[in-house]
Amino acid sequence: KRIKNAEFIISNTDYKKSPETNLPEYAFIGRSNVGKSSLINMLTDRKSLAKTSSRPGKTQLINHFLMDEKWYLVDLPGYGYAKVSKKTNEGWGKMISDYLKNRENLVCIFVLIDSRLPPQKADVEFLDFIGKNGLPLSLIFTKADKQSLNKTNQNVAVFKKKMLSSWEEFPPYFVSSAEKKTGKEEILSIIEQMNIA
Ligand code: GTP
Ligand code: MG
Repeated sequence: KRIKNAEFIISNTDYKKSPETNLPEYAFIGRSNVGKSSLINMLTDRKSLAKTSSRPGKTQLINHFLMDEKWYLVDLPGYGYAKVSKKTNEGWGKMISDYLKNRENLVCIFVLIDSRLPPQKADVEFLDFIGKNGLPLSLIFTKADKQSLNKTNQNVAVFKKKMLSSWEEFPPYFVSSAEKKTGKEEILSIIEQMNIA
């Protein structure tokens, strides 16, 4: 699977200024530095379509990209990074929660989780927000190249157990590495399936 044409459209602080809602849309979000922008570059085979940085807090806006003129991919700012989130009330910010709750054509929110870490408070709280609002969710465990597959699977299992203490089911999930370019096929496939459905 390959995205032939990936085009940056617009960056906003107000979701109401996002492009028309005539195409299905998929948002990528997670803690600052979890690898959202890197994943987007991997999915689109571009080196720097989305700006990446080793310093957390790089992405600060709602960024819309158009994929093959068929669907929107949205790169969102990270949550759980004190310098960015202090000024906001819900931790990840009104800008993001307004977008997620009100964007009509949003088909799925991909929440990125660092595959190396035990469940993080910021992630649990964010997923709680998703659950309370009944928003559509998939998980992507990132940076899998940084450890053995065994360790990744263990961490996924721990995360699953934690989530199932408050969720009825574990959402669809993927394991990815932007470094090794793994997870791309699976993620693009599920997006394709949801586009058709
Ligand atoms: P913010 O926009 O600041 O919230 O960060 P982000 O989630 O967009 O993260 P970004 O893609 O900018 O990546 C953060 C850092 O992690 C960069 O130094 C990336 O090179 C590194 N990184 C991202 N994905 C991977 C991965 O799969 N493997 C490895 N080894 N490093 C990664
Ligand atoms: Mg980013």
